[in-house]
Amino acid sequence: MKFFLDSAKIDEVQYARDMWKIDGITSNPRHVRNSGKPFITAIKDLAREFEGTGKPISVEVNPHHPTAEAMVEEAVKLAAMSKNFVIKIPATEPGFKALWTLSEKGIRVNLTLVFSPIQALQAARLGAAYVSPFVGWKEGAGEEISHMVEEIVTIYQNFYFKTEIIVAAVRNSRQIVEAALTGADIVTASFDVYKEAFENPWTTLGLKRFAESWDATPYE
Ligand code: E4P
Repeated sequence: MKFFLDSAKIDEVQYARDMWKIDGITSNPRHVRNSGKPFITAIKDLAREFEGTGKPISVEVNPHHPTAEAMVEEAVKLAAMSKNFVIKIPATEPGFKALWTLSEKGIRVNLTLVFSPIQALQAARLGAAYVSPFVGWKEGAGEEISHMVEEIVTIYQNFYFKTEIIVAAVRNSRQIVEAALTGADIVTASFDVYKEAFENPWTTLGLKRFAESWDATPYE
């Protein structure tokens, strides 16, 4: 299973790359705003951190685009900026049309804002490289969504689709584990979610105990 970082902040990206060997980056307009940089500067800075690695960086088109044509035009420009860029397109009707147009041009698409298995099925049919079902938003709103990712995994297995599933909007380590149990390919989470997930108070306590024993023992 691959771990992607959901961020456009360079300090977080560098930390995740150098400490956790992160497999890719996902960004969205909110992350870019939080980076404090203009859009193009922010995504070029991300590309620089992964140049020559082949690791995917998802960058999202302007969410105001009303037509597939407008999405495609911007996507083509963005894709030409870096080999790492995968273009995030929303799961709307024009978005689906943009998806298959871009797929036919050989541009990799991450279909985002996916909230149902049927949207994920259509994404795979139309050639999406990645599909991003958001688990945190619906769960945060009190909806029962435990079967959504499971169903997408089964559908993709049934038809041998190559589209990779990125379980997105992950809020805690339990959701990462649940994603892994379903067999989803990738999880994308924020810096803070990973930081908390990889640490455990029992490990810290255990290390303290062992350190005390170590200090009370001659080395040779
Ligand atoms: C995933 O690709 C999205 O960028 C992300 O998970 C969106 O959700 P969030 O910003 O609310 O976490």
